[in-house]
Amino acid sequence: MLALRRLNIETTKRAFSSSAVNATKVAVLGAAGGIGQPLSLLLKLNELVSHLSLYDIVNAPGVAADLSHINTHSKVTGYSPDNDGLKHAVTDATIIVIPAGVPRKPGMTRDDLFNTNAGIVKDLATAAAKYAPDAHLAVISNPVNSTVPIVSEIFKKHNVYNPKRIFGVTTLDIVRASRFVSELKDTDPKNENIVVVGGHSGVTIIPLISQSGSNFTDDELKALTHRIQFGGDEVVKAKAGTGSATLSMAFAASRFTNSLLRALKGETGVTEPAYVKSPLFESEGVEYFASKIELNREGVGKIHDLGSLSQYEKLLLEAALPELKKNIQKGIDFVHK
Ligand code: NAI
Repeated sequence: MLALRRLNIETTKRAFSSSAVNATKVAVLGAAGGIGQPLSLLLKLNELVSHLSLYDIVNAPGVAADLSHINTHSKVTGYSPDNDGLKHAVTDATIIVIPAGVPRKPGMTRDDLFNTNAGIVKDLATAAAKYAPDAHLAVISNPVNSTVPIVSEIFKKHNVYNPKRIFGVTTLDIVRASRFVSELKDTDPKNENIVVVGGHSGVTIIPLISQSGSNFTDDELKALTHRIQFGGDEVVKAKAGTGSATLSMAFAASRFTNSLLRALKGETGVTEPAYVKSPLFESEGVEYFASKIELNREGVGKIHDLGSLSQYEKLLLEAALPELKKNIQKGIDFVHK
């Protein structure tokens, strides 16, 4: 009995010391928004997070106070721009997730958001480069095709650039594709894992449906591809001017953050598609590209190539590359103008 009690105490001690070693601060910038709030809730439920740090220009301390009453072990802190709030929010963060910025209204493309969101992302990336140069950044703010190059250029300016640590979150495209295919084929969406590559807007979103293992007619394939590329528009239209995808996006960002946390803690075999600095189409002047990425302790591990493409997918790729190149250059130019 005594030996058993001693063993229990030892086990508890070990559990405490290993969780102290694995302390993980995740910062959410834009935490009071449509995505920020449900994302922060999901991260509060994540056992791999030990400190959830919330920042917004409005109401982050309120959201933090609310979440802090949930009986999971993580600490929650909230910051506004006063008293160096942004600095405190990001300092010592392992991962910084950025959903700050304005969302689309009906009729807008993601590129229409550039003028407002580019500046917001630039300011937040500057704080991250100064106060959390070793953090991993997961950029949600649109247009992702341009905001990821903005973050990278800011990190380069501060001489702290590491391409293995900067991600554009494209997980929602994979989540949507898997759900839409499962609806059509009456399969369990959990078991569908459709690869989506390229970028995160309209024609730059390239679903590789030929690799799904299911057969589709040409008409089905075209309709499905269009729905995946413009799935965000369905939500924007249904919300009728009040915003874009927030709940499905929070789910997708939570899945991506969880995968990254698992990999950073040493789990192997964790793969997520993401938009990163990529060698795949660099020779064609496209520096950033989303494809399947093996995540590891450093962040980006092996970048998978696209595998075999159908004739239709080759055409999609051809249409995506010039648009992506333009979007990337726009982000780079914004920082150096
Ligand atoms: P929202 O307007 O509901 O929330 C944005 C939040 O950002 C607000 O709380 C606002 O106060 C905050 N904010 C604005 N400027 C800030 C600053 N300088 N620092 C910190 N916080 C700031 O918008 P929502 O729906 O949450 O969307 C956020 C972004 O995510 C948009 O750019 C949207 O286009 C993008 N998005 C990306 C997706 C993806 O798949 N990557 C999918 C859906 C949306």
